[in-house]
Amino acid sequence: MIPNFDAVAPTFERYRALPRGVPEAIRSAILQATGKEPPARVLDLGAGTGRIGKAFVAADDFYVGVDASLGMLQEFLLTTRVPCLAQADGQQLPFRDGAFDVVMLMQVLSGAGDWRGLLSEARRVLRPGGAVVAGHRVAPTAGVDAQLKKRLAAILETMGVERHQGKQVRDQALAWLGSSAALRLHLRAATWERNPTPREFFVRHQSGARFAALPDAVRDAALEKLRAWAEKTFGSCDAASREEHSYEIDVFQF
Ligand SMILES: C[S@@+](CC[C@H](N)C(=O)[O-])C[C@H]1O[C@@H](n2cnc3c(N)ncnc32)[C@H](O)[C@@H]1O
Repeated sequence: MIPNFDAVAPTFERYRALPRGVPEAIRSAILQATGKEPPARVLDLGAGTGRIGKAFVAADDFYVGVDASLGMLQEFLLTTRVPCLAQADGQQLPFRDGAFDVVMLMQVLSGAGDWRGLLSEARRVLRPGGAVVAGHRVAPTAGVDAQLKKRLAAILETMGVERHQGKQVRDQALAWLGSSAALRLHLRAATWERNPTPREFFVRHQSGARFAALPDAVRDAALEKLRAWAEKTFGSCDAASREEHSYEIDVFQF
């Protein structure tokens, strides 16, 4: 099943914006690592609100954004004049074989229902010699967000909500791509400092597609328990920690 982002689209970027310069750094890293130069044909599969796609549009690249969620694409269009956007299921792309030099899947695989279907289509529309790029944001493994995420998953499990295995799903998908790629590279496209607090996590998490889809009573009860745990663990929900965050990409050349 495709995760539905329509309901969370208006607040998606409010809590997940990347720092100034990061989308541009990601674009540069992708073009450099893939050895492609404008006017390379770039498909942003799961483009969302254009957090990263905006940098390609601003640079006047040959950029096509696709997303299943009309709400996310509408948010993209509110901030950016995008020449080519399409609402489509990534498992049935409306493009001919070999149409693109680069296919990007940025922060898409860990939440993808059927990653095999998505990646098969990504490969189909990629020209020989092209590259698939998968990217995601990385927070410290023992940082505030990671601790709260782990605790929340444990709380939800006691309430009968199955744990989402996002990292395992992404790792499986990347291994599948790696098994047929001619070359695989992993690199940090950007790093930045953050001062996250537990309170920020609560606000952001409530606007996450998966969490927002849970029944109100489950969400409220889980957050209540998590708040109590955070007060005890961090001393306050407003306690800030200094952390380094980054954006990492995996590049697969075919
Ligand atoms: C976490 S958001 C990331 C959006 C954007 N790539 C970014 O980094 O800001 C994941 C996006 O992938 C889209 N998506 C997930 N599965 C999809 C599929 N099968 N076909 C098209 N879009 C999909 C969702 O609708 C959502 O907009």
